[in-house]
Amino acid sequence: MLKIGVLVSGGGTNLQAIIDAVENNTITNTSISFVISNNPNAYALERARKHNIDAKCISPKSFETREQFNEALIDTINSYHVDLIVLAGFLVIVPSKLIKQYENKIINIHPSLIPSFCGTGYYGLKVHEGVLERGVKITGATVHFVDEGTDTGPIILQKAVEVKDDDTSEVLQKRVMEEAEWKILPEAIDLISNGRIAVVNNKVKKVSL
Ligand code: GAR
Repeated sequence: MLKIGVLVSGGGTNLQAIIDAVENNTITNTSISFVISNNPNAYALERARKHNIDAKCISPKSFETREQFNEALIDTINSYHVDLIVLAGFLVIVPSKLIKQYENKIINIHPSLIPSFCGTGYYGLKVHEGVLERGVKITGATVHFVDEGTDTGPIILQKAVEVKDDDTSEVLQKRVMEEAEWKILPEAIDLISNGRIAVVNNKVKKVSL
């Protein structure tokens, strides 16, 4: 049984997709040990509590220094002894100590086809005057392992989503979530929990059983 912990910052629709997939067996061999948010008002915490999952807020604002916040975050995560950490809309820089400790055991969902539209401070979809930069026609989402770079770790799954001419950023973001994020994040967890992928030379390979 793969024990996972989920880190969140906001609404938690990706968390909900994971919870639903565990409950309806789309994800197998997996239990959710905790949900941690940096934001006390994150609706994701409510979603977790409704399903009797330990839900905690660890806010940087409660600590005098970033180091103290990082230590509290790491200590709390370590107390659960999980096999995999899932960043499901976690908008905080993950401490490098945690990344080193959990090498190829942290995954992230990102709302674009990496390496397009990634980078520091990027949240949602890069929109300039109502359209994706230079009128991009295809976007999507990516699930990848987290390394010490920004969105640079080995890619597990990607799914493309069409950009329509009259899309607003809100309409497009919703389509990316519905058609891509809520599907590939649970699918990636299921692949990991069933030993179906391995990281070889910094690339994800499918393992045939
Ligand atoms: C999602 O769109 C996710 O891809 C994005 O935050 C949103 C969280 O929504 N993550 C990033 O931008 C990370 N760089 P949710 O709280 O409803 O799951």
